[in-house]
Amino acid sequence: GRGAAAQGGAATSAAASSGAAAADALSFPADFLWGCATASYQIEGGVKEDGRGETNWDVFSHTPGKTRDGGTGDVACDSYHRYKEDIELLKALGVKAYRFSVAWSRIFPSGRGKPNQKGLDYYNRLIDGLLAAGIEPHMTLFHWDLPTGLEGGWQSRDTAYAFGDYAGYMAGKVTDRVKHIMTVNELRCFTDLSYMTGGKAPGLKLPMAEVNQIRHHGVLAHGLGVQAIRAAARAGTEVGLADNPTIFVPAIETPEHIAATGKAMREENAMFLTAILEGRYLESYLAAQGKDAPKMKAGDMKLIGSPLDFVSLNIYTPNFVRAADTASGYEILPHLANSPRMASPWLYVGPEALYWGVRTVSDLWKPKKIYISENGTSADDPVAQDGKVYDADRVMYLRNYLTHLQRATREGYPIEGYFLWSLMDNFEWEDGYTKLFGIHHVDFKTLKRTPKLSADWYRELIRTNRLV
Ligand code: NOJ
Repeated sequence: GRGAAAQGGAATSAAASSGAAAADALSFPADFLWGCATASYQIEGGVKEDGRGETNWDVFSHTPGKTRDGGTGDVACDSYHRYKEDIELLKALGVKAYRFSVAWSRIFPSGRGKPNQKGLDYYNRLIDGLLAAGIEPHMTLFHWDLPTGLEGGWQSRDTAYAFGDYAGYMAGKVTDRVKHIMTVNELRCFTDLSYMTGGKAPGLKLPMAEVNQIRHHGVLAHGLGVQAIRAAARAGTEVGLADNPTIFVPAIETPEHIAATGKAMREENAMFLTAILEGRYLESYLAAQGKDAPKMKAGDMKLIGSPLDFVSLNIYTPNFVRAADTASGYEILPHLANSPRMASPWLYVGPEALYWGVRTVSDLWKPKKIYISENGTSADDPVAQDGKVYDADRVMYLRNYLTHLQRATREGYPIEGYFLWSLMDNFEWEDGYTKLFGIHHVDFKTLKRTPKLSADWYRELIRTNRLV
């Protein structure tokens, strides 16, 4: 086990209390869980196979103009057929865990009703293959591919109940082998970016009253999912979610800016992670939304605030914040034209985000365990003469971010593991195949996977359990 989180950043190392790691600035605790992450629609392909039902992303990616290169997930990495090869990639890296998601529409083709055994069989094969390879399966139940049979999508409160039923069904089928389940992935993406700004499926731009209602259905689905999983799961199953709260980094590491960081974290994520971890909406959020605030039913907030075993964070980018004489007490400093970023325009570089994300979530809400469920980067990735991708910039990015995660372990924050996004190049949503995050290159003509330099680096880091 880990030591209690060090208050005020004093270096009471987890290592010292558990004997798990060297108290230096490079090593990770001995039992630190290294992993890789993927998601169903981004890698599986096989969209018409074995009874899989249609999803919002099938429709969206097939609508002209919606993805940058016209890309779809029809084939993607073909992991539906090549999952054994993918397990071999994981084995060669030496990871201890793999985070993947289940395509809801393989299990319930129209979102609810009669389950499809062939869909479940696929995940059973994957889970059994991982376990045989000594790799822990960490399962996400909803990573954005929503069955179109659920009419109204997340606009409908019924979708939250359908999710609960699906989550309970899966827990009953897999928790003899799967010990870590995440309900949903990245609330902001399948609500705001899908129904407010519309870059993601279904691509709508709705008024705020409807957006707030959709957000509410998202957090409610999570809560119903947690309850259903607990009711159906074997003892020892851990339940959480993988969220992407906006992460704040104090402009200067002084008490006043650190306090501003905590305030910004709570306020700016009021409709998502704050609601889930506090079981209520902040007054400031409800007041700001006014007549557009979400309509709720009795008992909703209790469900939304269902206790969790862990919180997983997807962290890519920092937002610098300073204490300020404003009503909120903080000011978010904007990203500027020359702020460093990677290949995706939104991917501003700030390795401190990993440390401050873990520390702020831990200080504010004291979850028992925290995982980084995603971190990684897109890069240009030219293929060299010898057929290999020498992605030194991705290695630079990862090394810097992990240096700051190591600080969180050293200071005793309850960070259990790290999942690198992504195991391999895959369908990057509205960016199609124009932005690639893999540490394995995928030739999308032959579907051949080839380790990039970053895979060699990650393997070495895992082998030594030390920053290299
Ligand atoms: C977050 C999402 O969960 C994942 O699906 C996506 O590919 C990565 N970020 C990179 O954008």
